[in-house]
Amino acid sequence: MTLENKLGITDAVELARVEEKMSKAKAHKLFTSGFLDTLEAGSFQALASIHQALFGEIYDFAGKVRQVNIAKGNFRFAPVMYLDVALKNIEAMPQTTFDEIIEKYVEMNIAHPFREGNGRSTRIWLDLILKKELKQVVDWQRVDKNDYLMAMERSPVKDIEIKFLLQQALTDKIDNAEIYMKGIDASYYYEGYTLYRTEEL
Ligand SMILES: Nc1ncnc2c1ncn2[C@@H]1O[C@H](COP(=O)(O)OP(=O)(O)O)[C@@H](O)[C@H]1O
Ligand SMILES: [Mg+2]
Repeated sequence: MTLENKLGITDAVELARVEEKMSKAKAHKLFTSGFLDTLEAGSFQALASIHQALFGEIYDFAGKVRQVNIAKGNFRFAPVMYLDVALKNIEAMPQTTFDEIIEKYVEMNIAHPFREGNGRSTRIWLDLILKKELKQVVDWQRVDKNDYLMAMERSPVKDIEIKFLLQQALTDKIDNAEIYMKGIDASYYYEGYTLYRTEEL
């Protein structure tokens, strides 16, 4: 079963291909247009705006808080019933130090506010906070896929692994287009999308 989409695509492989191409082009534009810099780092609205920008032409649910419960592996993300309150609390979490920022990111992952596309949009949101508060971003090319996914799976119980993994990949090159574009490609690679290169879209 494919997710219901605005393009009327019913084949899962085709939907994945089109979603990758369209949303990577949008991710490219987010950077070059300067739109990212207009967002309020750490707010839920910033995340919703990123999600809407990436997926708005593909899914009706883009930028909107989900109305179904979802799980991955053995982990159930925040129940819909508590999601609005959770998002307000997460938004209010401090973001002054690296540890605080990663703790906020881990909580946002536990909330998983959207039906799909949480991983890809929330990594852009995380970099926005790191950029504003620490003048650094994650160089995602230096974060191994399996290490990352295992650390995120572990993060609701213990966040030491994800903190270590992301700390060793921080860079001061916060306005570097190549770091950003290749970071988007790495972020998509974690989720199984590898057909297109962001800098070419
Ligand atoms: N078992 C798990 N427990 C907690 N978080 C997980 C688990 N599995 C995956 N994740 C997180 O969820 C993200 C994927 O969420 P998803 O909504 O599918 O995003 P996308 O569509 O961008 O792939 C992963 O990148 C990871 O951060
Ligand atoms: Mg997904």
